[in-house]
Amino acid sequence: GRVAVLMGGWSAEREVSMWSGQAVHAALLSRGIDAHAVDAQKDMLHGLKAQGFDRAFNVMHGTGGEDGTLQAVLDLIGLPYTGSRVLASALAMDKLRSKRMWKAEGLPTPDYFLIRTIQELRAAAAALGYPFIVKPSEEGSSVGITKVKSEDELDAALALARGDSSRVVMAERFIDSGQKKAEYTCAILDGEALPTIRIEPDGEFYDYHAKYISNDTAYHCPSGLPEALEAQARQICAQAFELLGARGWGRVDFLLDRQQRIWLLEANLVPGMTSHSLVPMAARAVGMNFEDLCWAILETTLD
Ligand code: DAL
Ligand code: MG
Repeated sequence: GRVAVLMGGWSAEREVSMWSGQAVHAALLSRGIDAHAVDAQKDMLHGLKAQGFDRAFNVMHGTGGEDGTLQAVLDLIGLPYTGSRVLASALAMDKLRSKRMWKAEGLPTPDYFLIRTIQELRAAAAALGYPFIVKPSEEGSSVGITKVKSEDELDAALALARGDSSRVVMAERFIDSGQKKAEYTCAILDGEALPTIRIEPDGEFYDYHAKYISNDTAYHCPSGLPEALEAQARQICAQAFELLGARGWGRVDFLLDRQQRIWLLEANLVPGMTSHSLVPMAARAVGMNFEDLCWAILETTLD
C-alpha cells in the first residue's frame, strides 16, 4: 500500500517532527514500502483524501498532530493511522488530566496544581516548597519548563510556561533523584513495555538542549535498575498507557526518588523517532533495529 508519513505541522516541536519524519520515511523506503513524506498543514484534509493513501504513519509531535486533532481528521476521511485515537491522544497531551486519571486509579504521580494566576503560583510554591517545576500542561520536548528555585523566578517561570498563546500552566512537585540526576522512560510497543532507559542529563534536567543538541547527555538501556524494580516500572508504565486508552505505541516518562519510588510524569503518544530518540534505543535493546521498529509500528495499523 501507499503510506503517508505525516510530519512537521505547526507545533513548537515542528523541527523535531521533521527529523523524526525524515528518519521514518527513509526506514520505510529501505523496506520497499511506497512511503511519501507529507509536511502536514492545517488544510491537509482534502489533499490527503485525494492522494490515495492506504494508511498514515504519524510522527507529528505536539499540538495538532499528537493531541487528537489529526486523529479526528484521519478518522473522518477513513485513513488508518499509527498510534492512539482521538480521546487517548487528547488526554495524553494534557499532562494535568493524565495525572488526574492516574491518581484516581492509584498510580503514582508527583503532586500538582493548575495555575491560572501568579497568586495561584505563589500558593503552589508554598505548598510544594522550592525547588518545584512549572510547565505548560500541553507541550512537548520540555518547551516552557522551569525548575523554580526561589520566589524571584516565579513571574518569569509563569510567563515562559504560558508562552504567546496563553497555554494552560501547571506546577508540579520536584522529585529529587539524589546525587546523580537521572530521568527514566519506558517505550510501549503494541501494549508491551520495552526495557526502561535511564537518562543522565548534563544540565538541570532533560530539557530541549539535552534532548536534541547536547552530546553530554548519557543514555543507558538497559537502565541498570534492579530486576524487581525494572519489572515494576514496566508494569506501571504499561498500566499508565492502558489507563489513558492508548494503543499502538508510545513512551511513558517517569522519575525515581531517593527511595527508588516510581513517579509518573507523562505519556507521549507520538514520541520522537529521530535516530537518537528513546523509543528506537529501547527497541535496539530487544534486537529491533530502526527499520524493524518502523515496520512494527506500521503493522499496528493493520489490526
Ligand atoms: N515530545 C517528544 C518528541 C518526545 O516525547 O519524544
Ligand atoms: Mg511529552
